[in-house]
Amino acid sequence: MMETVYTIKDAREVLSSCRDKKIALVPTMGALHEGHTALMAEAAKYGDIVAASIFVNPLQFGPDEDLDDYPRNLERDLKICEENGVDVVFAPSEAEMYPEHPEVILSLKSMSLVLDGVKRPGHFEGVITVVNKLFNIIRPDFAMFGEKDRQQLMIIKRMAEDFNHDLEVIGVPTEREESGLAKSSRNVNLSEVEKTEAPAIFQALEIGRDLIHAGEQSAASVKERIEMHIIDHTSGKIDDLQIFTARNLDAVQTIDTDVIIFIAVKYERARLIDNMMVIIND
Ligand code: PAF
Repeated sequence: MMETVYTIKDAREVLSSCRDKKIALVPTMGALHEGHTALMAEAAKYGDIVAASIFVNPLQFGPDEDLDDYPRNLERDLKICEENGVDVVFAPSEAEMYPEHPEVILSLKSMSLVLDGVKRPGHFEGVITVVNKLFNIIRPDFAMFGEKDRQQLMIIKRMAEDFNHDLEVIGVPTEREESGLAKSSRNVNLSEVEKTEAPAIFQALEIGRDLIHAGEQSAASVKERIEMHIIDHTSGKIDDLQIFTARNLDAVQTIDTDVIIFIAVKYERARLIDNMMVIIND
């Protein structure tokens, strides 16, 4: 039977009897959807025990962001956890996680100076601070994060490495519609016409990947071809298109190492993001 704990003390107590087993953690902010259940299914492949955390982390919201409006429905989330094989849920209150105004917050160097790090100042610092706490509380062997939020995944991987957490951070592939469109809660805000056009985003990424695999080394040329595909196939406007190294998110001009292509496309009522890792075979 699934156990739900609300305090750090109880989480440690419940998990103390599982230390001879492998624990896989799925950190969440609740409002669970198919992306999270995919993480839970993957966690079950790695761990004997699947733990999930549900905590809307105020530290990762900017002053103008939707912290108060963020959907919270613990009862529904617990049901989803139970139905998806979670063994232990850690659902602390804000007072439990931050009994005092936090004095120590982890910071980042270059990895937060691009993409969402620029658009949401302080966001990734809040994410790694809470994830660091969760790793210390749960002490999992594996922690699962979606590749849809690739920048977050990469930053958490680096944090785990740099802070010597004895665990493996696992990236779980993006859930996609049959058309290739990345599943996102924002897709419901697309018009009928936009819905038929939006798969062009993934197609454009595939074109970019194939070009690189075919030997194209100029990041500018790859971006140009991606841009052309978007312009020709959808009314959505490119909001961001960048190619960065897969290790550190450094900008590249000449593609001679593994890279990630990041794209954001703006529709009338939705900004859709997607990304593609391109491994260079040498
Ligand atoms: O991806 C999320 O839901 C959050 O950023 C995370 C990793 C649970 C940290 O609050």
